[in-house]
Formats: sequence, structure tokens, C-alpha cells
Amino acid sequence: NAEKLELVAQSIRSFPDFPSKGILFWDICPILKDPRTLTAVTDLFEEHVRKNFPQVELIVGLDARGFLFGPLLSQRLGIGFALVRKKGKLPGPTVGVAYDLEYGKAEAEIQADAVAPGQKVLIIDDLLATGGTLFAACELMKEQKAEVLGCLVVIELKELKGAERLKPNSVYSLVQH
Ligand code: PRP
Repeated sequence: NAEKLELVAQSIRSFPDFPSKGILFWDICPILKDPRTLTAVTDLFEEHVRKNFPQVELIVGLDARGFLFGPLLSQRLGIGFALVRKKGKLPGPTVGVAYDLEYGKAEAEIQADAVAPGQKVLIIDDLLATGGTLFAACELMKEQKAEVLGCLVVIELKELKGAERLKPNSVYSLVQH
């Protein structure tokens, strides 16, 4: 696994002042460019989930880059995938929650029938910064009476203490900065 983690870590790059001044943007695009690295990401998540959350019933991915990793994982696990999207993107009845971002405000929505009450879910995204986005997704799950088992991210920005904000939910990250 050390080799896989190293491969992933080496495939992440950062851009200063994007999307606005003072923000250091962590870019996961090189992971997707190389199939070996994308497989390593999925392998690492799969192994963690099989070991720690064998009871998981649904993967919930966050707009937008949670959609890149979530379905690969859910397919490996033989379970479904649901999308939490930014406001106004999903058709039919939806439930939403407002949240603060590192740079601005947003609202997350899920289709009302996406998650069943009592369903055991893991939430996935590319990056944990302040934790605002994942926290909002956890709130949505609570509202839908789903059971959040934990959160999965490729990158965790330790300094911003997002994991603290998400407690008692756990966070598993592949790379820490
Ligand atoms: C980024 C990232 C996470 C979120 C993390 O997405 O992909 O979803 O911010 O930040 P937080 O922990 O402080 O909430 P962004 O909001 O930029 O949206 P995008 O996926 O549409 O680019």
C-alpha cells in the first residue's frame, strides 16, 4: 500500500490563488490522467471500506469531484451511488441544506428518494478543507435519516481542521497536507 499511496501523493499538484486570491487549489486531475494511479485510489478506498465498513450500503458522492471517485468505489463494492449536487441541478423532489465554503456560500441538494431511512452510507469527495461541504452532506443524510458510517477523501488539509468539524464522524484520507 505504501507504493500506491506514494503514487497518489505524487499525482497531486497545487495552484496558488485559484479560484481566488489567497486560496491554494489542490488539483487531482493528474490522478485521472494515469489509469494506474486511478486504480490505486480505488484499491486503497476499497480496502479501507472492506476492512472497516463492510456493512456499507450506499456511497454518496459530492459535487463535483466526488463523482469521479465515488462510482468506481461503489461498483467495486457492488453497491449503489447517490449524488449530492449544488442547488438546482437535480430534477424531481429534492431536499437541501445551505453551507459555508472556504470561498463563499453554497447549497447542497439530494433527490428525496436517493437515500432510504436507516441506510448505511459513506460519503466521498476529492478534498477535505474546512469540512463545510462534507458537514452539509452529513446534515442532509441526517435529515434523510440515513446512517453516516464515515467520510472518504483523497486529500485532507490538516491545518483547516475539517476532521474536527466532522466529529463524531470519521474521515479517511489518502494524502495529507
Ligand atoms: C471543493 C472540494 C470540496 C470542497 C472542500 O469543491 O472539491 O468539495 O471544496 O472544501 P470544504 O471542506 O472547505 O467544504 P468546490 O466547492 O470548490 O466545488 P467544485 O467541486 O464544484 O469545484
